[in-house]
Parts: sequence; structure tokens; C-alpha cells
Amino acid sequence: MTKIAPSILAADLAKISKEVIKVDKAGAEYIHIDIMDGHYVPNISFGHNIVKTLRPLTKKILDVHLMITPVMPSIESFIDAGADIISFHPEADDNPNTIIETIKNSNCKAGIAIHPDIEIEAIQEFLNGIDLVVVMTVLPGFSGQKFLEKQLSTIKKLYNIRDSIKAKFEIEIDGGINDKTSKQCIANGADVLVAGSYIYSADESEYESLINSIR
Ligand code: DX5
Ligand code: ZN
Repeated sequence: MTKIAPSILAADLAKISKEVIKVDKAGAEYIHIDIMDGHYVPNISFGHNIVKTLRPLTKKILDVHLMITPVMPSIESFIDAGADIISFHPEADDNPNTIIETIKNSNCKAGIAIHPDIEIEAIQEFLNGIDLVVVMTVLPGFSGQKFLEKQLSTIKKLYNIRDSIKAKFEIEIDGGINDKTSKQCIANGADVLVAGSYIYSADESEYESLINSIR
């Protein structure tokens, strides 16, 4: 069954703890935490302290998506804060393999995120050693953007590559997910769907049915 990862970037930050507990109870498998530095993307969100703050509140997978450059100087702090999965954009650092190794040696899962302008070929060398590939279906930086349909073929390609090289990574789709785009993603091979504004712009009484509608 498709896993759902609500993105807290779209939640009301004044009640962030409650909002995480609510999507946990509503059935989310992952909690997606977008880290933005104002350099790799034109927006600033949170630092590793958000992971530390949320860690005691939920047993769900804390799925950290780093949109920062460089990446290496911050990796240890996200590991120590209690992340379960750490994904990063490989073009944002000179030593992506060292980062993957560092994450995996600490018993965290390692993910690679694909910016919509990056070709799959550019990340192919990492696919055997990682646990997750995040396919971006919006330009990284903000929630509430329109789904980029051209990325459906990227999902499909990745699905086929995984099959042919017998790799084990999950395919996570991030950006513009709603009850329509989720169907297209699942049809092309998605395992995990990130959803920010689709869930968090609704009333909390709807979280469970919205999660189920995209699952
Ligand atoms: C964008 C982030 C996404 C974003 C998704 O840079 O990586 O996780 O929060 O938000 P929605 O679902 O609203 O597109
Ligand atoms: Zn994200």
C-alpha cells in the first residue's frame, strides 16, 4: 500500500507539535520535514532543532528532505536530532558518496532527491546504495505549487531502472500531490507520496479522509 508523508512545511507552525500528532493519528506513515537554507532554494524553513523537537512526539518515520548547500557540514546534526531518513540533492555537495556513507553508518536511511531539472542519468550511480529516491514534482522551495506532469516519465524510468538493477530504494514523490495527481504517480510506480497543502489547508477533521483519498 502507498505510504503517505504529510509535509509539515504547509502546517500552522504555531501548533506544529499538535499538527504532527494529528497526521500521525490520521494514519500517515512518514512525517516529511523540509529543510531549506535560502541558498539551494530561495526560501528558509527549519534547522535540525525541528527534528529534535518532533522526535519524542511520534514513532512515525521522520523523513528529512534537505534542500541545503553544502550538505556535509549539517549531516551529523540531523542524524543526532533523530531523523530516520535523510535525503539530499547530490548536486548540492562535492562529495555525495561520503554523505551517503555517513548517513548509512549511523543507522539512518539515505535518500537522493531529484530536482525537476536534473536527469535521472545524473543520479544513476547512487541507486544501488540508497534507501529512497525523492522525485520532485515541483521546483523545490515552496509548498502549494502545481504538479509538474513531465516528472511522471521520470517516476516510470526510475521504476524500470530499479527493476533492472534489482535495487531496493523506495520511490517518493514530492510536490503538488492531490487526489488526482496521486493516482498518476501510483500508476507510474510511486511507493510514498508527500503531501503538504492538500492535507494541511483543510480542516483537521478531514486529515484522515484526505490521507486515504491520496493513498
Ligand atoms: C517543496 C517541498 C515539498 C512541499 C510539498 O520544496 O519539498 O515537500 O512541502 O508541498 P505541497 O504538497 O503543497 O506541494
Ligand atoms: Zn520535500
